[in-house]
Amino acid sequence: MEKVIDEKVQGTALVQEAKQGNSKKLFIESYGCQMNFSDSEIVASILAKEGFNTTNSLEEADLVLVNTCSIREKAEQTVRKRLEKYNAVKQQNPGMKVGVLGCMAERLKEKFLEEEKIVDLVVGPDAYKDLPNLINEVEEGRNAVNVILSKEETYGDIAPVRLQSNGVSAFVSITRGCDNMCTFCVVPFTRGRERSRDPQSIVKEVNELWEQGFKEITLLGQNVDSYLWYGGGLKKDFDKASKMAQATAVNFAQLLDLVAVAQPKMRIRFSTSNPQDMTMDVIEAMAKHDNICNYIHLPVQSGSNRILKKMNRLHTREEYFEMIDNIKKLIPDCAISHDMIAGFPTETEEDHQDTLSLMEYVKYDFGFMFAYSERPGTMAGRKFEDDVPEKVKKRRLTEIIELQQKHALYRTQQQVGKTVEVLIEKSSKRSDAHWAGRNSQNTMVIFPKENYKVGEYVMVKIEDCTSATLFGTAVEYSPMNF
Ligand code: SAH
Ligand code: F3S
Repeated sequence: MEKVIDEKVQGTALVQEAKQGNSKKLFIESYGCQMNFSDSEIVASILAKEGFNTTNSLEEADLVLVNTCSIREKAEQTVRKRLEKYNAVKQQNPGMKVGVLGCMAERLKEKFLEEEKIVDLVVGPDAYKDLPNLINEVEEGRNAVNVILSKEETYGDIAPVRLQSNGVSAFVSITRGCDNMCTFCVVPFTRGRERSRDPQSIVKEVNELWEQGFKEITLLGQNVDSYLWYGGGLKKDFDKASKMAQATAVNFAQLLDLVAVAQPKMRIRFSTSNPQDMTMDVIEAMAKHDNICNYIHLPVQSGSNRILKKMNRLHTREEYFEMIDNIKKLIPDCAISHDMIAGFPTETEEDHQDTLSLMEYVKYDFGFMFAYSERPGTMAGRKFEDDVPEKVKKRRLTEIIELQQKHALYRTQQQVGKTVEVLIEKSSKRSDAHWAGRNSQNTMVIFPKENYKVGEYVMVKIEDCTSATLFGTAVEYSPMNF
């Protein structure tokens, strides 16, 4: 999802909406994709009603929750190290309870309680509404587990508590789960069947964010293009729905329309798109609305048709090129990013060259690149031998990363001399005298603050760049402000 902010700590929660009268303290940390980050905001909201305010101090927490990622083995190792840290703190503070949320909770279930004895609470991604009961169990001295996956839960009725927020951009989740079954991927097992959230609740949340001063939203789903609302229910059962439900269904392009029209001064982003599910009407909706950002995260995973097939990615390299051509035809300045996996089982040097040549064709603006990591329970984990030696995987990954850096620089260099619209998000990390914000294409832009403020749209003339950042000077306010 734009993107896995791979295996890094998202940071601890800030005390944002400290609810008066709440006396207990929750320390919540998220790893992995943006969906986890967004889920932690739902968890914080559920627990605010149970007397918990968030804290950024581990030592003073009554309850420590870690929202976990299983996507690669390294992600799980990182979480295990954090669990050791929490337990060290717990030694000093025996009243403290520790809980695991998210994909690792779902994957490892009771194992966490039985074998490792390092957690009190295990809660899967669809069971967060059960947290109040589970916490009661724990307070009464029992371990508590709920890893039941749901066919309906979308948390559409919960107003998230915005954690670690700059007050400018927010995530809004629109689907949960994934039905695609890419053979390498653990997500369909840890997050269950795909469900879409009621469009009315999505628009309501976006309107509320606008009222609170937010200027940019990212619609989140494992596969946003397959969003489909027809009164509830799973996408796979759509054909069985009544004629009326089918006729009034809302697909992703229509949802984009609804949101873009509801808040025309708000930037709309979305993530993640899947080439096999993305349709022309989505690209047309992007082209039609100025407030939908010109950026698509369109993971491909490999440039080889043979490997794509083995991954159960249901498109060919040629079809992917066709999609890229269509995007660039309708939105010439659209930025495109990718996810790529190096060293999938049986990948040959020729397959790897196909990946490099695909990248050469697209010249991606950004990329998220990984060495294949075998995940227990997935089709690839069960059926294919992880036969590309670690050294070869690493070398191929390095080649992919180096090529990506070259293309990123090519893309940022094309921006130099142009004047682009930037939404100011925060102070630059390197200099307090400069603002940082992103252009429509999602590239960070740094420029002197002058009298501009966070949350304003400004037109910035780009003067210089690195492969990841643009530098310039603000010339005027953008019409998006008015
Ligand atoms: N559709 C999801 C994909 C989640 S996983 C989304 O919204 O982003 C994110 C990325 O991790 C995938 O696109 C893939 O490139 C990578 N990934 C998934 N499983 C992997 C594995 N077993 N080994 C290495 N990389 C993997
Ligand atoms: Fe995973 Fe493929 Fe879905 S990468 S999240 S199974 S689209």
